[in-house]
Amino acid sequence: MNNHHRHIHITAMVLGLGLTLSPWLTAQASSAESIGAQIAAKGIGSVPACATCHGMKGQGNPQASFPRLAGMGADYLAEQLTDYAAGTRNNPIMTPFAKQLTAAQIHDVAEYYAHLPTAKVSALPTATTAQEKMAKNLLVHGDWSRTIPSCFACHGPNGVGVKPGFPALVGQSASYTEEQLNAWQQDHRPAGAGGLMAAVAKRLKPDEITAIASYLAKIPVQ
Ligand code: HEC
Ligand code: HEC
Repeated sequence: MNNHHRHIHITAMVLGLGLTLSPWLTAQASSAESIGAQIAAKGIGSVPACATCHGMKGQGNPQASFPRLAGMGADYLAEQLTDYAAGTRNNPIMTPFAKQLTAAQIHDVAEYYAHLPTAKVSALPTATTAQEKMAKNLLVHGDWSRTIPSCFACHGPNGVGVKPGFPALVGQSASYTEEQLNAWQQDHRPAGAGGLMAAVAKRLKPDEITAIASYLAKIPVQ
């Protein structure tokens, strides 16, 4: 066989392999999601169903400050579960659950929640006019005199999130958002991708954190 023929032969093999691989890859993706769906609905081992706290549609529970998971980036969700398991993001509820999940289960449950449509969250608290003004300023413009960039520059317009790495800020309760910003201030949560979020959070004043968290909770989820 000369080089030319060998090249055609290899190309045909690669193409053939590609054709047989693609249904297999699709099957892999949907089976990951269906294993994830099972973990979400039924739990696994001694880990309770994720849905008991995060809601049947992954919408979260604002009253209890259980965060929304639906429609967040799969990479982001998997990273959080890995951080809880490692104890770098330390939470008395999530850390023990995450420790019991294998890397494959983390992957599958993250895929499942990432593919759920974002669900509406009800009964959200309201921000005062003064809080709204303070919050909007920081969210849209930031404060360059204190090296605080616009939050929406990373988290997308109105905080809808930018996949895979920048989580949505809308659809979360004020209490959850406030707890996260405080966790960074107290070094209880890893800085995350790029290491910037902890630095940004540390520059916010307590009344700004409350204002931002209350205002974000008012923005309707699309
Ligand atoms: C008993 C209630 C409860 C159960 C059950 C539960 N969670 Fe959580 N989850 C929480 C709480 C509370 C937080 C917020 C913790 C914090 O402040 O860091 C959270 C946070 C998370 C986060 C981080 C979200 C974000 O926006 O950063 C992920 C991801 C998560 N849970 C996934 C799961 C998965 C997957 C399961 C099922 C295997 C599960 N949780 C089961 C209560 C629960
Ligand atoms: C340079 C980009 C960047 C900027 C600017 C930024 N963030 Fe973030 N933010 C991130 C990243 C990346 C994460 C995910 C961190 C992780 O992996 O734990 C994050 C996570 C968050 C979370 C946690 C969400 C969750 O579901 O747990 C909150 C709340 C948040 N940011 C609020 C803000 C606020 C408020 C501002 C403006 C004052 C802001 N961010 C500005 C990049 C940014």
